[in-house]
Amino acid sequence: MADASTSRPIQLEDFRPVRLEEIQGQDQVVARLRQLAEGVRTGRIVPPNLLFHGPPGVGKTTAARAFAREVLGPDFLNSYYQLRASDDRSLSVVTKGIIPLSRRPPSRTAPFRIFFFDEADSLEPAVQSALRPAMEEGTGSTVFILACNELGLLSEPMQSRCITLAFTPIGPAEMRQVVLQAMAHLPAPLPPGTVELIVDRARGIPRNAVKLVLEAHALAGPALEAYES
Ligand SMILES: Nc1ncnc2c1ncn2[C@@H]1O[C@H](COP(=O)(O)OP(=O)(O)OP(=O)(O)O)[C@@H](O)[C@H]1O
Ligand SMILES: [Mg+2]
Repeated sequence: MADASTSRPIQLEDFRPVRLEEIQGQDQVVARLRQLAEGVRTGRIVPPNLLFHGPPGVGKTTAARAFAREVLGPDFLNSYYQLRASDDRSLSVVTKGIIPLSRRPPSRTAPFRIFFFDEADSLEPAVQSALRPAMEEGTGSTVFILACNELGLLSEPMQSRCITLAFTPIGPAEMRQVVLQAMAHLPAPLPPGTVELIVDRARGIPRNAVKLVLEAHALAGPALEAYES
């Protein structure tokens, strides 16, 4: 039941792909992100602001992190800011903290910084308005990536300052890969037949699949340990 290398319990977060090529499905999105990453690498371009939308659990946050790792390299650690819905994203924090920071030059070695707003559709309308000027300044120091489930809840001006990329549920072949990738993090394989069962029950949503892998692992764990002792 524990990750052998750290002896802590395996968590859902352990299954999150780190690199763009580990993201299953979302082929058009991943191709576009690769193209942009290549532009950063060879042409030193600063990518446009991006808006990821689609149902929960299909890879939006995962893609933002993987893209940021790719374009920022080691500066991911100091130049990627993930602003979750659970973080304080009030008007005063945004106007006094986030916007002034977005205008500052990037860290010494980083090409730019990335602000990722998860669940951007939950940002107050006043906050969405306040962010607009910062998103269009084009100082080259900050790229905004927004993710949302409901495109309609995001103001038109915000949408128009981004390139929009649509995420969708994925097919069974890609889902099988999600399950196999997740299973590779487990200390022991799951019982035969489990993969197909999970592919079927996930209904196109990779988060469902990784949750089921964790659940199946938790159920199999005590039985396996009893067998081993
Ligand atoms: N396309 C994918 N390929 C592989 N794994 C995926 C994919 N999408 C999601 N996952 C798995 O599901 C987990 C949750 O995905 P993620 O957080 O990226 O979803 P999301 O689209 O941001 O959802 P939400 O709208 O709720 O924020 C990831 O940590 C990862 O393990
Ligand atoms: Mg997310």
